[in-house]
Amino acid sequence: MSFPEQRPRRLRRSPAMRRMVAETRLHPADLILPVFVREGLTAPAPISSMPGVVQHTEASLLTAAEEARDLGLAGIMLFGIPATRDAQGSAGLDPDGILNRSIRAVKDRVGDDLVVMSDLCLDEFTDHGHCGLVDETGEVDNDATLEVYAEMGVAQAAAGADVVAPSGMMDGQVAVIRQALDEAGHQHVPILAYAAKYASGFYGPFREAVDSQLTGDRKQYQMDAPNRTEALREVELDLAEGADMVMVKPASAYLDILSDTAAISDVPVSAYQVSGEYAMIEAAAANGWINRRTVITESLIAIRRAGATNVLTYYAAEVAGWLREEL
Ligand code: PBG
Repeated sequence: MSFPEQRPRRLRRSPAMRRMVAETRLHPADLILPVFVREGLTAPAPISSMPGVVQHTEASLLTAAEEARDLGLAGIMLFGIPATRDAQGSAGLDPDGILNRSIRAVKDRVGDDLVVMSDLCLDEFTDHGHCGLVDETGEVDNDATLEVYAEMGVAQAAAGADVVAPSGMMDGQVAVIRQALDEAGHQHVPILAYAAKYASGFYGPFREAVDSQLTGDRKQYQMDAPNRTEALREVELDLAEGADMVMVKPASAYLDILSDTAAISDVPVSAYQVSGEYAMIEAAAANGWINRRTVITESLIAIRRAGATNVLTYYAAEVAGWLREEL
């Protein structure tokens, strides 16, 4: 009779033992909360495909930001939903548009105690729902869009954004935004580049969250799911263009991309646990098919284990609350 000489189970026998040898941990400062603020709302509006997530009023947004600060989150990522849209996405450029005035209001409220990030993209502001300007053939015009992004970045920085986060996947967007920020005196504002962002069905519920006007898809500018090497090219280009941080999105179905990115990146790497990832967990948990808290924690640990420095997640505040309880 031979018994095993190696017994990895020794280190798994108690919660305390497992905690001692854990290779990956979650901390509130790893978590970034994406928030939606909708112009003209009088009360927070639930998003049916994202139970527990709301479109904020301008007032309730400030409460959410204070809560995020008090919980010690890494930051919040602001998405604005304007009352009116046009083909150019003008409301996104307006210094007094919903997103820019919300950035200003949140900064006034939380000061330097919370990193306030803003989504730099046109899709919430255009009446066609695309992330850029559409030309006469119906294609998204890369270079014309870059000029708008440059202006939008400057407007967000002027409103007080601590970080701008271009998510439109236009070629050259990081370089153009960097140059515009520098020329406008915002050389200290970092860019979090959505570097490897895939055209994904997992963004489904987000479309409801921002009342998206999109009818087609974004496959001409966002990445194609089969491609892994190409993601490294996108990341390297953004790094060369001056990205201060890079992001992989979605997270759970793209952990290989995240791991590859973490291996080559010499800047912090973010991952975005997107609306569909959230909705799937909520739906299964509501049916009693999975343990909600266990799966939420496991999903975030998996994203960190794959190499994310921090995670954008709609669970940020709730999980930070759990982490506090556990201390
Ligand atoms: C584009 C943007 C999207 C998301 C974040 N930024 C939508 C898209 O690219 O179609 C999706 C986030 C989510 O699904 O949670 N501004």
